[in-house]
Amino acid sequence: MSCQVKLTPSGHEFNAKPEDTLLESAMQAGLNIPYGCRNGACGACKATIVTGEVRHGDFQSTTLTADEIAAGKTLLCCAYPETDLTIEVKEVTGGKDIPVKTLPCRVHKIEKPADDVAVLYLKLPASERLQFMAGQYIDILMKDGKRRSFSLANAPHDDEFLQLHIRHVPGGSFSDYVFTGMKEKEILRFNGPLGTFFLREDSDKPMILIASGTGFAPIKGIVEHALKEGCDRQMVFYWGARQPKDLYMFDLALKWQQENPNFTFIPVVSDATADDNWAGRTGFVHQAVLDDFADLSGYQVYACGAPVVVEAAHNSFIQTRNLPEDEFYSDAFFLAKDLKP
Ligand SMILES: Cc1cc2nc3c(=O)[nH]c(=O)nc-3n(C[C@H](O)[C@H](O)[C@H](O)COP(=O)(O)OP(=O)(O)OC[C@H]3O[C@@H](n4cnc5c(N)ncnc54)[C@H](O)[C@@H]3O)c2cc1C
Ligand code: FES
Repeated sequence: MSCQVKLTPSGHEFNAKPEDTLLESAMQAGLNIPYGCRNGACGACKATIVTGEVRHGDFQSTTLTADEIAAGKTLLCCAYPETDLTIEVKEVTGGKDIPVKTLPCRVHKIEKPADDVAVLYLKLPASERLQFMAGQYIDILMKDGKRRSFSLANAPHDDEFLQLHIRHVPGGSFSDYVFTGMKEKEILRFNGPLGTFFLREDSDKPMILIASGTGFAPIKGIVEHALKEGCDRQMVFYWGARQPKDLYMFDLALKWQQENPNFTFIPVVSDATADDNWAGRTGFVHQAVLDDFADLSGYQVYACGAPVVVEAAHNSFIQTRNLPEDEFYSDAFFLAKDLKP
């Protein structure tokens, strides 16, 4: 028998089947709950149970601690209803009516802007278009049934090809294939768009954008969308990488800065060698933001890439720089092995 769920403060209600996660049921009802990994790792879907009981399912114990469970918190992507519920969660505005589709696409072109980064340009069938918000991701559906998530690097206005930036993870089933076996013209299948990492256009706050490695992909989509829309909010973009060569679209980010007075690009390198002759900022990318900003209370932060970077930014900005918790937006690139089975 299904349970009745009420969301607060919106007052929205939906039916939830005991075998579906609360996130699945909310999405089926057309409601827009914040989420990222859908796997109990990133914490984007964390909410508070006001009344009722849930079964928490599988999740990472660092993402939802025993103390948080005791305080009524849950992860909606893993939680199943046991009774009628009232849940406190801040719903997302925007992106709500975009259909999630499963589509074929053709690999039009593969570029390698760095030794370990491939850029895929994917072409949809002539009769299809993918509606999406800049910054969302898609799941590539592999032939063996595995799914791998990749952020869309193009903005919606520039949709002749869907663009993915894929870092080579040695031993990784999909990225190894991209680097060793994938040929142009082959057909892939994907499901999307997914996720709630996109520009909050109803705000006029200045933005800090942070990418580590291929976390640049959704940031690229967001920036290109914002610039196309004539957004005049201040944007400060920090791109962190181990070495300068890992900043694989450095010139593009520099061009955004040269052409837009409200855009600043700050590359940050953690392991430059003497041969690199790197004269720019060094260290961890979140630390560069901490060094530059004493107070983030009036900002929005968009962070994407390695989970360790996203988590360091989240914790330090909220705890030491007064960033409001609900002004931190992120997609952490968890590997499938880090997620629940
Ligand atoms: C929302 C989201 C968006 C993402 N966007 C991007 C993006 O834009 N660009 C990008 O590059 N990545 C992105 N990722 C990461 C991406 O989805 C993949 O996880 C990544 O590409 C690795 O996939 P793979 O199939 O190559 O490796 P996998 O097969 O998942 O293997 C990864 C590593 O784990 C090892 N491994 C596999 N199984 C086990 C095991 N059981 N025990 C121990 N080790 C194991 C492998 O040898 C390998 O080293 C995103 C992730 C998420 C969640
Ligand atoms: S923990 Fe639920 S979406 Fe990531």
